[in-house]
Amino acid sequence: TTSGLTFDIQLSDQRKTPQERDALLVNPGFGQVFTDHMVSIRYTEGKGWHDAKLEPYGPLTLDPATAALHYAQSIFEGLKAYRHPDGTLASFRPESNAARFNRSAARMAMPELPEDLFIRSIELLLEHDGDWVPTKEDFSLYLRPFMFATDVGLGVNNPSRSYLYLLFASPVGSYFSGGIRPVTVWLSKDYTRAAPGGTGAAKFAGNYAASFLAQAQAVEKGCDQVVWLDAREHRMVEEMGGMNLWFVFGSGDKARLRTPPLTGTLLPGITRESLLTLAPDLGIPAEEEPISIEEWREAAESGELTEVFACGTAAVITPVGHVKSDDGEFRIGDGTPGPVTMRLREELVGIQTGLRNDKHGWITRF
Ligand code: COI
Repeated sequence: TTSGLTFDIQLSDQRKTPQERDALLVNPGFGQVFTDHMVSIRYTEGKGWHDAKLEPYGPLTLDPATAALHYAQSIFEGLKAYRHPDGTLASFRPESNAARFNRSAARMAMPELPEDLFIRSIELLLEHDGDWVPTKEDFSLYLRPFMFATDVGLGVNNPSRSYLYLLFASPVGSYFSGGIRPVTVWLSKDYTRAAPGGTGAAKFAGNYAASFLAQAQAVEKGCDQVVWLDAREHRMVEEMGGMNLWFVFGSGDKARLRTPPLTGTLLPGITRESLLTLAPDLGIPAEEEPISIEEWREAAESGELTEVFACGTAAVITPVGHVKSDDGEFRIGDGTPGPVTMRLREELVGIQTGLRNDKHGWITRF
């Protein structure tokens, strides 16, 4: 039992055959293919967490007045499982995802899920659907834990008193089609992702809903991704789409890294936090310091800024090659993936996939 709960196991009678699974694993895209099972746990005020189970992956039946559909009390996490060379299954810092899940829950007035239940849900799903973890380079099993309000009714004076936690898994290849190629970004001055006191630091579903229009504008402007700026002046850099941003100043032995500090309006990425440790391990100083769009442009034009990349669980590390805004456009370095970007990516992916020594104890084996 975990936190006093025993998981009921209901196996699917429609499990994919190994042949069907292999066919789906050839080119799964991102978040398009799902494994045979999911884990669910219910919460009811006064009763706590209950009805923990592993069950067949499949549609949910919801009352049209389910609170989450109207008032968006809904949060999620994203992490990946990898198959290491010795055949074991592993994930990267899952306890950090559990902790962030609970910070998101607290912000959205939702109950916290005990960390042992979060980890056990992953372990249980991997126990049954572990064969879905791809072995190919750059492939992994993306895990999607999430929670939403299930009270039925339209009252808006109180948070829901009941919730559903779910975990399912999706085998994935590269997040951006075309593998690692530098992206072009649009500096958004028309839209704001997060304001002080708002929900920007939470992995809250509504933050992503609010981003689609700005992302569509970026695409209209010929860019791949939107870059969010501060709410007050649209001048300080916050993050890119759903990823944190890094700036490389100087090169060779003199290279140093900078990322915007967590002011409460940025999503506190676990990849971001890992790079704050990993870069110094490689002899590259890394600091959390604000950067304005003027400094970004001037340093790119003077050549002092040599590389820019974004980081996140889904796309790992993605180089930024060009920047566009209402004020014109500029290039980063020669527009191709830089050496610091690629070295950090290799080191990080090496640890995640078991090819490099896990000296910080970031790997959990299942
Ligand atoms: C990330 O993992 O980088 C994300 O932000 C997840 C994304 C698919 C919403």
